[in-house]
Amino acid sequence: MIALYPGSFDPITLGHLDIIERGSRLYDHVIVGVLCNLSKNPLFEVSHRIAQITEATNHLPNVKVDSFTGLTVEYAQACGATVLLRGLRVLSDFEKELQMAHTNKTLNAGLETVFLATSTEYSFLSSSVVKEIAQFGGPIDHLVPANVAQDIYRCFNKTPLVTLNLTE
Ligand code: PNS
Repeated sequence: MIALYPGSFDPITLGHLDIIERGSRLYDHVIVGVLCNLSKNPLFEVSHRIAQITEATNHLPNVKVDSFTGLTVEYAQACGATVLLRGLRVLSDFEKELQMAHTNKTLNAGLETVFLATSTEYSFLSSSVVKEIAQFGGPIDHLVPANVAQDIYRCFNKTPLVTLNLTE
């Protein structure tokens, strides 16, 4: 069974990676679909996001990273996915996610949305939070994959003020 995990991933966080890793244990294949959303002002180009996610998931042989434009349901159909995978962090996510799942169901009744509860340590985490901290040079290495942290600091032209030692 193929699951599509669609999103903006600007940038990918450890919360996203957690969903990808757990999804890869549940499904034969997981496709991470990066939406080319022209109406947003992204930190990273889509091709850069694909490279970041590909590097962060290279330990997962059944995960593929791609981009798409247009409707998620159409892309899911084109790549043979029968499941849409989404993470649920807090109650405030639920309203938007349920509306999206219901909308997608009206567009393709055969496609099921499956929600994974975000691991508790990432329940506060979002791409916006990461950007908020990084623009002031705060520590983000506990929030994003290592390869991505460097990219983000470079983007904001910052060097981290503090680096957390996660081995302690
Ligand atoms: O990471 P995000 O920004 O929360 O992901 C949102 C995403 C990409 C899943 C959603 O915006 C989406 O599916 N966009 C594609 C357009 C679409 O299919 N819209 C209908 C569903 S509401």
